[in-house]
Amino acid sequence: MARCCFYAVGTLSLLLLVCSVTLLVARVFQKAVDREIEQNTVLKNGTEVFDAWENPPPPIYMQFYFFNVTNPDEILQGENPHVEQVGPYTYREYRPRENIHFWDNGTKISATNPKSYIFQRDLSVGDPEVDLIRTLNIPVITAMEWTRISLLKEILEGLLKTYQQKLFVIHTVHELLWGYKDELFSLISIFKPDVPQYFGLFYGKNGTSDGDYLFLTGEDSYLNFTKIVEWNGRSSLNWWSSEKCNMINGTDGNSFHPLVSKEEILYIFASDFCRSVYLTFSDIGNVEGIPSLRFSLPPEMFANNSDNTCFCIPSGNCLGSGVLNVSVCKNGVPIFLSSPHFYQADEKFISAVKGMNPNKEDHETFLDINPMTGIILRGSKRLQVNVHVRKIEGFDETGDIKSLVFPVMYLNESVLIDQDSATKLKSVINTTMVITNIPYIIMALGVFLGLIFTWMACKGQGSTEEGTSDERAPLMRT
Ligand SMILES: *[C@@H]1O[C@H](CO)[C@@H](O)[C@H](O)[C@H]1NC(C)=O
Ligand SMILES: *[C@@H]1O[C@H](CO)[C@@H](O)[C@H](O)[C@H]1NC(C)=O
Ligand SMILES: *[C@@H]1O[C@H](CO)[C@@H](O)[C@H](O)[C@H]1NC(C)=O
Ligand SMILES: *[C@@H]1O[C@H](CO)[C@@H](O)[C@H](O)[C@H]1NC(C)=O
Ligand SMILES: *[C@@H]1O[C@H](CO)[C@@H](O)[C@H](O)[C@H]1NC(C)=O
Ligand SMILES: *[C@@H]1O[C@H](CO)[C@@H](O)[C@H](O)[C@H]1NC(C)=O
Ligand SMILES: *[C@@H]1O[C@H](CO)[C@@H](O)[C@H](O)[C@H]1NC(C)=O
Ligand SMILES: *[C@@H]1O[C@H](CO)[C@@H](O)[C@H](O)[C@H]1NC(C)=O
Ligand SMILES: *[C@@H]1O[C@H](CO)[C@@H](O)[C@H](O)[C@H]1NC(C)=O
Repeated sequence: MARCCFYAVGTLSLLLLVCSVTLLVARVFQKAVDREIEQNTVLKNGTEVFDAWENPPPPIYMQFYFFNVTNPDEILQGENPHVEQVGPYTYREYRPRENIHFWDNGTKISATNPKSYIFQRDLSVGDPEVDLIRTLNIPVITAMEWTRISLLKEILEGLLKTYQQKLFVIHTVHELLWGYKDELFSLISIFKPDVPQYFGLFYGKNGTSDGDYLFLTGEDSYLNFTKIVEWNGRSSLNWWSSEKCNMINGTDGNSFHPLVSKEEILYIFASDFCRSVYLTFSDIGNVEGIPSLRFSLPPEMFANNSDNTCFCIPSGNCLGSGVLNVSVCKNGVPIFLSSPHFYQADEKFISAVKGMNPNKEDHETFLDINPMTGIILRGSKRLQVNVHVRKIEGFDETGDIKSLVFPVMYLNESVLIDQDSATKLKSVINTTMVITNIPYIIMALGVFLGLIFTWMACKGQGSTEEGTSDERAPLMRT
């Protein structure tokens, strides 16, 4: 009886060990967990995934920093601009998905994403309705650019000459962002009704959406979760000079597919960038105790290289690394986008403006993503709005100004996972941890039984030693 038990323990121990190793090598539980995650990451009415997508619970903050110009007269004489950063002016951003419809048996979903902004005094340096900023007179510069191409050349030139306006203006932060009635634009709108009378960097953006999106729900493959298929009814853009640059890639940046790996390139279509961008892996970390992978905007993104020549329009018109001419999708306003303080841009842009201090920590765009679920734990989208100015013959306003990519403002749109979502996510992670650790539990059991087996073996040997000492004694003597 004891002997039988002895062998049973041994065999069981061995079986458990073999079983656990097999499970580990074949990654059976890991695969089961992955499959479960893949199957649940689908936008379906009534699911938690859908609710989180429709109305993301973590608060989003939009912070604006302006560059106050201190030497306007000297700039007109050809000196480098000197700017002082003022900010942040912080707004809480609300962005629910609206007009949601499912298509094609639940494989596609269409929606808009209107954003509204509520000012947060306690997170800001001052009152945007009071604080004054001196910056470029963007409507005048825009009108001058229009004279180079527009059919209204004579009228525009006449207006600009009659209503001689200064190249620098002082407005409140609120006016610069949300719009002010501009004298010149009002006059132009008489001749060209599609020109708005108001100008502001975020004019008309409060409470409005950036277009109609059509996404994949992830029904066909988890890798396609919330991938954009169409924007405003089109599956590609038409501003740039090659098919590759016109592609609408990836998601809108608010959600990603689960099981993200370090090797991946994460594509995001950002309508304010007027192009698809991508993020690459840069770091491992954790946010609120949740494991994360950091993906950030690589320097190649806006580099002056062969991949990006299709963004230099008119063709061959590359200004250098780190800036993107988006005039073509901003109604001809000569806006150039860059990272704040020209982070990762050519030195010539940085040294042309006194007051630029690029650094990684403050000026990089990044996302911290939980690799298992693809959920965004923390992120910052940082973007600087510059205006390209140049001396234009025939217009006294531009004086002897140098050709410049002139910084006006930058923004930091950031998000951090809220406590509720973090707690929920942690419990999901813990559950999967228990499941994927089952083989180790089996292995521990096997080792434990193995120890009992060894102990029984030793004990058994001890007891036989006494009874058989006579038999063994002669052997030992030899
Ligand atoms: C989701 O289901 C609810 C209740 O069944 C319904 O009222 C709502 O219209 C559905 N939403 C969509 C986008 O189909
Ligand atoms: C939707 O599903 C039905 C039944 O499964 C099928 O007959 C139909 O062709 C599908 N429609 C589309 C657009 O996939
Ligand atoms: C945006 O619109 C909301 C609601 O209409 C309003 O409460 C808020 O003050 C507006 N924000 C700005 C910056 O004008
Ligand atoms: C920006 O500069 C102008 C002109 O020098 C000054 O009046 C204003 O107070 C400055 N704004 C801030 C917020 O410091
Ligand atoms: C969906 O994902 C599959 C597999 O990853 C891919 O082959 C397919 O092209 C994707 N569909 C679309 C519309 O991107
Ligand atoms: C879009 O993705 C393709 C690869 O799928 C890539 O070759 C192309 O450069 C991307 N376009 C942009 C604008 O990022
Ligand atoms: C951009 O790159 C091309 C080719 O590498 C080079 O000829 C050109 O001078 C660069 N332009 C600028 C502004 O750096
Ligand atoms: C920026 O793009 C616009 C629109 O294509 C073009 O007219 C303008 O010349 C470009 N500006 C520079 C400085 O290249
Ligand atoms: C946003 O970025 C700025 C610097 O670019 C930084 O000072 C600020 O703390 C950031 N805000 C958040 C909420 O991370």
